[in-house]
Amino acid sequence: MPVTFLLFLAMFLFPVCWPFLALYILWLFYDRAPANGGRPIQWVRHLRFWKHIASYFPVTIVKEEELDPNTRYVFGYHPHGIISHGALMNFGTEGTNFSKVFKGLKLRLLTLETNFRIPLYRDLLLALGLASVSLQSCTHILNMKTPTSIVIVVGGAAEALEAHARTNNLTLRKRKGFIKVAIRNGAPLVPVFSFGENDLYNQFANPKGSRVRRFQEVFCKYVGVSPPVFYGRGIFNYDFGILPHRKQVATVFGKAIKTEKNLSPSEEYINEIQEKYIEELQRIYDKYKNVYAADRSTELIIKE
Ligand SMILES: *[C@@H]1O[C@H](CO)[C@@H](O)[C@H](O)[C@H]1NC(C)=O
Ligand SMILES: *[C@@H]1O[C@H](CO)[C@@H](O)[C@H](O)[C@H]1NC(C)=O
Repeated sequence: MPVTFLLFLAMFLFPVCWPFLALYILWLFYDRAPANGGRPIQWVRHLRFWKHIASYFPVTIVKEEELDPNTRYVFGYHPHGIISHGALMNFGTEGTNFSKVFKGLKLRLLTLETNFRIPLYRDLLLALGLASVSLQSCTHILNMKTPTSIVIVVGGAAEALEAHARTNNLTLRKRKGFIKVAIRNGAPLVPVFSFGENDLYNQFANPKGSRVRRFQEVFCKYVGVSPPVFYGRGIFNYDFGILPHRKQVATVFGKAIKTEKNLSPSEEYINEIQEKYIEELQRIYDKYKNVYAADRSTELIIKE
C-alpha cells in the first residue's frame, strides 16, 4: 500500500506524467469495477513473485474435501490477522497453486470498499481479483454467468485488534451478514481457518478497556479500518522491523455446509446454519491445532 501510494505522489513531480495523472483521476471517478465483479488479470495473479512470498512463510493449503467448480460457494476466512497475508496469498494469487488444488474453482476475495479509493493500490487489488465486500457486490458476483465464489474475511477490523501471536480470538457470533448472503443465494458455506495468521507480527498490548483500545475502536467505527500498532522483523534481525515473521500459515478448508435458497430466511434458520458453520470451524481447528498451533497460549475463542 505505501509503495503504490508513494509512486502515485512521486508522479506529480514529473510533468511528463501529468497527462496520465489527469486521465487516471478521471478514470477513478468513472470506474465501478470494485462493486461489479472486479477485474482480475491472470498473469498478475500468476507472477513468480507471489510464489516466492508464499514460500517465505510458507503458506500451505490443507484440504478436507473436493469442491465443485460449478458451485458458487461463500468462504468465510478466519482469523483476519494484522493484514490477512494468508488470504491474499491463497485467494489473490497463485502463490499456493490454488487453481491446481481446487481445480477450476473461480472466486473473488472481498475487501472493504475503502481500499479501492487508494490510487494505484486499487488497481493492483483489482488485478489480483479482489472486489468490494458490499452486499451489492456479493450478490453480483454470486450471480455472474461463470460460476464464481466469494471469500469474506468475516472478523474484519475488529478481529485485527485482537490479532495477537499464539491466540485466536474470533469476532464471529454477531456477524450474520455473510450467512444471510449465502442463504439468499442458496450457496454452500465453507469455513476456512488459517493457523499462523495471527503469528506473523507482534501487536502492542491493547487490552479491552485500555485507552489505546478505546481510541482504536472509535477510529474503527468512524473510518472503517482499524489501526493495530504492530511490528515484525527486519531483513537482518529478528527483533524489530516491518517484515512479517517467517512462520508457517496453514490454511485449512473445512467441509461445505449446504444452505437452502431463501430470499427472506427466518432468524431460526440463520441461527441453525450459523451453528453448523461454527461447529465445522471448531472441528477443523481441533483436528489440526496440535500440528499447526502446537505453541498456542490459548484455545480458539469465538466472540460476538
Ligand atoms: C506449485 O506447483 C508447482 C508446479 O507444479 C510446484 O513446483 C510447486 O512446489 C507448487 N507450490 C506449492 C506451494 O504447492
Ligand atoms: C481473547 O479473549 C479473551 C476472553 O474475552 C480475553 O481474556 C483475551 O484477553 C483476548 N485475547 C486477546 C489477544 O485479545
